[in-house]
Amino acid sequence: MASVMLSSPASASSPFERWHRHFLENRDSPGAFPWHDSYRLTASELRLVGRSIQQFQLAEWARGRGFVRRASSHPAFAADSWFLPALKLFIAEEQDHSGILGCFLDRERIPRLTNHWLDRIFRRLRKLAGLEACAAVLVTAEVLAIPFYQALRDATRSRLLRSICVRILHDEAAHLNYQALTLGLVRRGLCGRSCKIRSFCHAVLFRGTALLLWQQHRSVFRAAGWDFRRFWSDACRQFALLQLRIWQISLSQRCADSFDELRLD
Ligand SMILES: [Fe+2]
Ligand SMILES: [Fe+2]
Repeated sequence: MASVMLSSPASASSPFERWHRHFLENRDSPGAFPWHDSYRLTASELRLVGRSIQQFQLAEWARGRGFVRRASSHPAFAADSWFLPALKLFIAEEQDHSGILGCFLDRERIPRLTNHWLDRIFRRLRKLAGLEACAAVLVTAEVLAIPFYQALRDATRSRLLRSICVRILHDEAAHLNYQALTLGLVRRGLCGRSCKIRSFCHAVLFRGTALLLWQQHRSVFRAAGWDFRRFWSDACRQFALLQLRIWQISLSQRCADSFDELRLD
């Protein structure tokens, strides 16, 4: 599991100070997963969810060096001494998800993937442009992770897998607020037309990615009783909430209150 040792910055007037504290508290209260549970996935469960867990385990792993590099030089955050420490803890939390899923794969004797074409596409997309594009690509995957982990939670009879999904869902719901804050601050000061163009491009990316996700992982959704209509409406609802939050933050001068809003179930 990833662990990041960070010293606390001097400034305390940043909205990212709360996020730094949140990620630290989260790191220090790891979930109590029932690793002792003797249940193992049945052959049919393995066939339905095994490949999807492999892909998500790979996708959750990122060193985030490009993200950190872009963020350190971005004018919106250059003066914020809390931003980078919070970002590093956020990346560590994602690595932790990958670590937990990896342990689950090992336990079920499912091999870990070292690469996958979809993962390569997303990593390349994140490297294409600046911080905003990088964060937008990342948060698109996180929005879609919510319905995926909800379905995975209900797709098998494994208590262990269920508890892992519950923990990741808890973390990912917070990540949406965190990323909305970052994107909202990046877009602050842009004219209305620029914001609309960015929102439109983001929506196109989201819809394309959602279709790909369904195509790749529909067996998990179907095992949990979801049809395409439910997946699409849930995913679009999460994305609409995210876009609304980004827009509110881009307009607002007060952003510290973004921590507790946008509740996601
Ligand atoms: Fe994650
Ligand atoms: Fe996340």
